[in-house]
Amino acid sequence: MGLKAFRGELLSVAQDPREAGSEAVRHEADGLLVIEDGVILARGAYADLAARFADVPVERLDGLIVPGFIDAHVHYPQMDRIAAHGEQLLDWLERHIFPAEKAFAARAHADALAEAFLTELLRNGTTSALVFPTVHEHSVDALFEAALARRMRIISGKVLMDLGPEGLRDTPQTGRAESEALIRRWRGRGRLGYAMTPRFALTSSDAQLAEAGAFLEAHPDALLHTHLAENVHECAAVAARFPEAIDYLDVYDRFGLVGSRSVFAHGIHLSDRACTRLHESGAGIAVCPSSNLFLGSGHFNFGQADRIGVRLGLGTDIGAGTTFSMLHTAGLAYQVALAREERMDPFRALWLATGGSARLLGIADKVGALEEGQEADFAVLDAGATPLLARRTRDAALAERLFALQILGDDRAIARTYILGQCAWQRKPT
Ligand code: GUN
Ligand code: ZN
Repeated sequence: MGLKAFRGELLSVAQDPREAGSEAVRHEADGLLVIEDGVILARGAYADLAARFADVPVERLDGLIVPGFIDAHVHYPQMDRIAAHGEQLLDWLERHIFPAEKAFAARAHADALAEAFLTELLRNGTTSALVFPTVHEHSVDALFEAALARRMRIISGKVLMDLGPEGLRDTPQTGRAESEALIRRWRGRGRLGYAMTPRFALTSSDAQLAEAGAFLEAHPDALLHTHLAENVHECAAVAARFPEAIDYLDVYDRFGLVGSRSVFAHGIHLSDRACTRLHESGAGIAVCPSSNLFLGSGHFNFGQADRIGVRLGLGTDIGAGTTFSMLHTAGLAYQVALAREERMDPFRALWLATGGSARLLGIADKVGALEEGQEADFAVLDAGATPLLARRTRDAALAERLFALQILGDDRAIARTYILGQCAWQRKPT
């Protein structure tokens, strides 16, 4: 395959601006992205690179080109249960979510939802995600087959829940055996990765949590993906079941589930001790502000996490989250930070949604920053997507324009999404 290039405004944030300051932000007002076989060969100011790549065909892209968003925590089976009224976490699961997940016993249903889900990711500029499927082994096959066909970088793994409700229960033995079969079947295919996925402490027996720990030890390429300290009633139930544990995180720790490959969703109600343990172990949190607001779970404590140095990424947590848009979710991260009198600049919010999530998922060498050598997954943002956005961003400097996109933007502001340098989604002309 030959070379190709895109000319336009480029923006990426490779490191946490809290740590690296303005060095973290890379911006070319008139940039060139040169791509070879889906990988970024060169990136820089058009004026600097044009002569070197004079023979390469160039396509001009109108808008702000950013790395494809990386959703660090999302449930594909729940997309049709978004906006389910009335309950906090535990009742919401019983009343709305478990019935929806039972329907995945039918493979055809899983296939249909996997297709719809990946389309929705692309419509929202999301090119990679760490995804909860259901307890059914074939729910992972359905998602991976669809992602393989679209060449998307997707990480997932069968949900373990031997204490789940009737119809959604596995056993420590079947959960382990199916996880082993899945990782054997899918390892090394396309851009897929495997995550050991116990739902949360309350839906797995001690024996199953121990199997999850053993699986992680046996598979150094697998992530651990679960929920942690989301809701006060959940935390009380965990404390009641595990009186010997120091706190919720310690429950996972006792089974070997806390390490540098561990991704915990939420982490709303954490002690300084737990944050320190996350920091020391290299584990991190997928912050899910949309979900936390919808289920009344609380506001993530960025001040505490940053003081102690916890790794962070950003997730939509569909279907408790109410938007697939990581752009909008970045705007919500700003709002929950402000609720606790913390600051969140728009570049850090963009970092959380791209480079931060990439680091959390262990894929920062491959995606998240539009760096040379990375895969060419990107989104083209349109600051004129709505009349209001157009008014608000007219003559705005970069930071103000980006912030307006995060607060006022959503799927409407995604003009195009590229996977490995190829257009995978394009907004219809309005
Ligand atoms: N905790 C355990 N399961 C779930 C789930 O499906 N969604 C959310 N938000 N939290 C959970
Ligand atoms: Zn979740």
